[in-house]
Amino acid sequence: MKLRWAGGVLLSLAAAYYVYSPLPSTVNEPWKLMLLDALFRSFIHVGDAAHALGICHSVHVLNSVVSRLEVIEARSSPSVSVTDSALGGVPVRVFQPVGGGAKLRRGVLYFHGGGWALCSGRMRSYDLLCRKMAEELDAVIVSVDYRLAPEAVFPDQFHDALTASQAFLSPEVLQSYRIDPARVGVSGDSAGGNLAAAVAQQISADDSMSVKFRVQALIYPVLQALDFNTPSYQQNHNVPILHRHLMARFWLLYLGADPSLLPHILSSPSSLLHPSILPAIRSHLNWTALIPTKHQKHYRPIATETGSREVTQEVPGLVDVRAAPLLAEQGVLGRTPQAYVMTCEFDVLRDDGLMYARRLQDAGVRVTSDHYDDGFHGCMAFAFWPFRFSVGQRSLGSYIHWLDHNL
Ligand SMILES: *[C@@H]1O[C@H](CO)[C@@H](O)[C@H](O)[C@H]1NC(C)=O
Repeated sequence: MKLRWAGGVLLSLAAAYYVYSPLPSTVNEPWKLMLLDALFRSFIHVGDAAHALGICHSVHVLNSVVSRLEVIEARSSPSVSVTDSALGGVPVRVFQPVGGGAKLRRGVLYFHGGGWALCSGRMRSYDLLCRKMAEELDAVIVSVDYRLAPEAVFPDQFHDALTASQAFLSPEVLQSYRIDPARVGVSGDSAGGNLAAAVAQQISADDSMSVKFRVQALIYPVLQALDFNTPSYQQNHNVPILHRHLMARFWLLYLGADPSLLPHILSSPSSLLHPSILPAIRSHLNWTALIPTKHQKHYRPIATETGSREVTQEVPGLVDVRAAPLLAEQGVLGRTPQAYVMTCEFDVLRDDGLMYARRLQDAGVRVTSDHYDDGFHGCMAFAFWPFRFSVGQRSLGSYIHWLDHNL
């Protein structure tokens, strides 16, 4: 009896230890976030264990959990008709408001997040997001299921995103969905924000396209992989749900690089001090100049003895603008559409977004920078039951509001 009691206490302590991770005191609903993080970490640990045992790739474990628990059928409601279809051969889910006669509507192409390796536009949270956008904006929302790593690596995801965009913007497709060609936007969160930004650059520069995007709405986008020591990477390296090492792992996976490079890229010096990176490129991610001092805080570029390997030669994707849109020249940025950039204080990617917003602005693009002081990475996807955060609902509301006023 006593033994069982002691065992129970030990187990609860172990569980508490596992769940407990110190969080910044000003993050939104820290206890809920701690639970969410424990859930994520346990899936990742199970994935890593299966990977180490040679059962399957860790990403497949996570994605099979996602597809069992989260992927839902295309179900129409009285107000929104939902169908699974394809654009240029790329699978998509289309959300169309019901009724409205011959009236032309606005349209948004949406790329989901998940480190270019996880998730799907058919997941419950993304399905709910696009449904809500379709209803509240009275717009046609098309959610793109680009191919995922590790089967597909850069530039496959980018190509799928571009192919779907080109098909979406074709006069025939717009007409078939009754979309106003002057009011089409591109959007995405996290890795999807990366694809949206990269595609927006390509489409804007392509003179053969008669219809262009009018807006780009980027939700905590991933934009560069040369500096894992920006102030936000330093500050939030251990903050859920996107830990620094996890983001670096996603990058290596996306770029088809050797996973054993992980310790190397994590211990690399700040790109600002990296001798092998050209000064012209360094200036595009010079956070000491590009982000407000209130976000730089006390952080300084990190110099290390290691990291002298020419990693950009081994992994050319690191300096490819189609993978890292922050590296684009000012002339390219200047042609891209009006932008909305959402950033969260407690997110390793905060400074990617802040730098991009500033560079777009410097290039003459109209930018709305929407920052959440209590936000964490991924919060906008957590606006719905069972993991509903107030910052998730607030950020979702303001994103939809911005689209309503600018698209
Ligand atoms: C970054 O910006 C600072 C401040 O404007 C400047 O002194 C420094 O030379 C810049 N570094 C690079 C690599 O462009």
